[in-house]
Amino acid sequence: MSQQPLIIVSNRGPAQFDRSPGGSRELSRGGGGLVTALSGLVADRHALWIASAMTSEDVAVTEENDHRPIDVELSGVAYRVLMVESDQEAYDAFYNVIANPILWFIQHYLWDLSNAPDIRKEEIAAWYDGYEVVNGDIADCVISQIEDRDDPLVMLHDYHLYTAPAKIRAARPDVLLHHFVHIPWAQPDAWRILPTPIREAIFNGLLANDIIGFHTHSYGVNFLSCCARLMGYDVDFENLTVSHPGGRTMVRAYPLSIDAGRLERAAASDRVADFEKEILARRREHLILRVDRADLSKNVLRGFTAFDTFLSDHPEFREKVTFVAHLQPSRQDVPEYAEYLERIEALVAVVNHRHGTTDWMPIDLRVYDDFDEAVARYKHCDLLMVNAIFDGMNLVAKEAPVINVRDGVLMLSENTGSHEELKEFALSVNPFDIQEQADVIYQALTMAPDERRNRADGLKAIIHSRTPADWIEEQLADIELVRSQRTLVR
Ligand code: G6P
Repeated sequence: MSQQPLIIVSNRGPAQFDRSPGGSRELSRGGGGLVTALSGLVADRHALWIASAMTSEDVAVTEENDHRPIDVELSGVAYRVLMVESDQEAYDAFYNVIANPILWFIQHYLWDLSNAPDIRKEEIAAWYDGYEVVNGDIADCVISQIEDRDDPLVMLHDYHLYTAPAKIRAARPDVLLHHFVHIPWAQPDAWRILPTPIREAIFNGLLANDIIGFHTHSYGVNFLSCCARLMGYDVDFENLTVSHPGGRTMVRAYPLSIDAGRLERAAASDRVADFEKEILARRREHLILRVDRADLSKNVLRGFTAFDTFLSDHPEFREKVTFVAHLQPSRQDVPEYAEYLERIEALVAVVNHRHGTTDWMPIDLRVYDDFDEAVARYKHCDLLMVNAIFDGMNLVAKEAPVINVRDGVLMLSENTGSHEELKEFALSVNPFDIQEQADVIYQALTMAPDERRNRADGLKAIIHSRTPADWIEEQLADIELVRSQRTLVR
């Protein structure tokens, strides 16, 4: 495969700088599966990664380096990173008004439409003076970095950057643009919330790409339906392409997998072993676990209500089970998220008060981010609850089964991307059906050992059968295909 200059673009990059309480500069790795998934590509191709400067320390580092790329090493991988500084107010509107919540909520069907959202002049301004400005800043940076390069390849990521591709294409008609959307793509009517010009800017922005990737085939089909129904473009559902005034765009599904080897190594660390000792010393007969960002799409409230129902339906489990919930605080400047966390804490208090005893707290809520601690619990849980309302993929559902040592059962929402791959060996649930989730808790905790083993082995085999390298290879193969077709046309 030829080695075109490669640029990766995402809002959150692989590296983040912060100031420690003691005043020294600290470098940490950007969270989420994206960085892990792209590490192999970065290492092989010496890619440049363009991302937003998200902290004031990121801005300081960017300015100290005269807005030039910097080299950083994180977990043994060398990254060349260029952080883009945007006006602070513009960035705030981009991130806290448009990307989260408006786009995130549309794409996860989270809006309660009789109440919200209201599109007023503030939201319109947030689009033009926020989202479009940040996308413009990112696009300008990409354009400047490919200025002297022939045949550049730019791979963009996610819902923060829907309009950047059209801006890049306008400056460089020859660029090969690839965009991976990590979250679900909603059906056409969900997009009617947005005023037509904004909706059109999103679709025309994205359709400037040569290829658009999703985690699942059904998100791709939803996207194509939107192109047909909202934009009136010519769609070929068989070959998964859309023809539009700018040309033709291919839509493809590339399910992201986890790096099982890396997780196994992390699970064998001393720090994880320390957490395990504590967990084993304190555990009850059954451990139910959830590990999520504190996000409305994760359906935390219904999960706890299902546990509440389970305890009422099966009092014989009193004092025999603990539900540990690791919730990583997220997007707390968005009012909906801050309020969600408050509602979670209030519900936990109610359930613990209703069922708890002097020495038993049914729900153990941990609102902080500690990967090693979560990994230790992955190993020892009997049931992992993943009941998301909608979720692009959900990598937690793939992580825990790989290192679990108790033949733990996976409860999995049918609206997650990972459900397409794991459904045969998981216990599927409808995320809105609280009684079903309560019944599945009971089913999991009373399941015969043979069936548990069979399901756990099945999950491990499926998860091990795919690596992040496969995810990348499939995308590069399609990129090569598009490039060869272009060469023929020329
Ligand atoms: C989740 C989504 C990603 C998204 C990320 C942004 O992990 O699955 O698709 O890019 O959130 O989160 P952030 O913390 O940057 O708002």
